[in-house]
Amino acid sequence: MRKLFPGLETETALSEHRETVLRFMEENGAVCAKDGDRVVGALLFSRSENMLCYLAVDDRCQRRHIARELVGYILPLANPEKDLTVTTYRVGDPNGAAARAFYQHLGFEAGALTEEFGSPVQVFVRRWQRG
Ligand SMILES: CC(C)(COP(=O)(O)OP(=O)(O)OC[C@H]1O[C@@H](n2cnc3c(N)ncnc32)[C@H](O)[C@@H]1OP(=O)(O)O)[C@@H](O)C(=O)NCCC(=O)NCCS
Repeated sequence: MRKLFPGLETETALSEHRETVLRFMEENGAVCAKDGDRVVGALLFSRSENMLCYLAVDDRCQRRHIARELVGYILPLANPEKDLTVTTYRVGDPNGAAARAFYQHLGFEAGALTEEFGSPVQVFVRRWQRG
């Protein structure tokens, strides 16, 4: 799945990402889905920023609601006083159709256009039901 993510192109970048994953695990901000011994989905969540920082499901296991389960698992840990955000692909990016449909399915709304690791991306925001 790494080809889909800007910032994971080189071995050095991948090794930095490994350190990042370990840090999230130490802070209880990492959750994965396993099929036997195989990790088939992973989600990183920053409590301090109330932000989904990484989400991927093995392409052989998609459309089985694994990502929905992963996000459902961390939602009770999120801060209900603050909008939940994620940065994902912009409309028209062929890699991003699934992610954009997924976040919209979960009630996220498309927000600011920005850049990450030099790639154009868009922030999606999930507002809590208030009142
Ligand atoms: C986005 C991603 C994590 C979704 O994982 P998933 O486990 O397949 O998603 P789910 O099965 O939980 O999908 C829940 C709902 O989201 C929507 N959805 C998910 N993938 C979709 C797709 N390819 N096309 C249209 N709708 C989609 C559907 O409404 C789906 O419900 P349904 O299957 O009952 O119709 C997965 O496609 C992926 O890893 N993509 C590549 C990496 C990526 O884009 N990560 C996010 C970067 S921010």
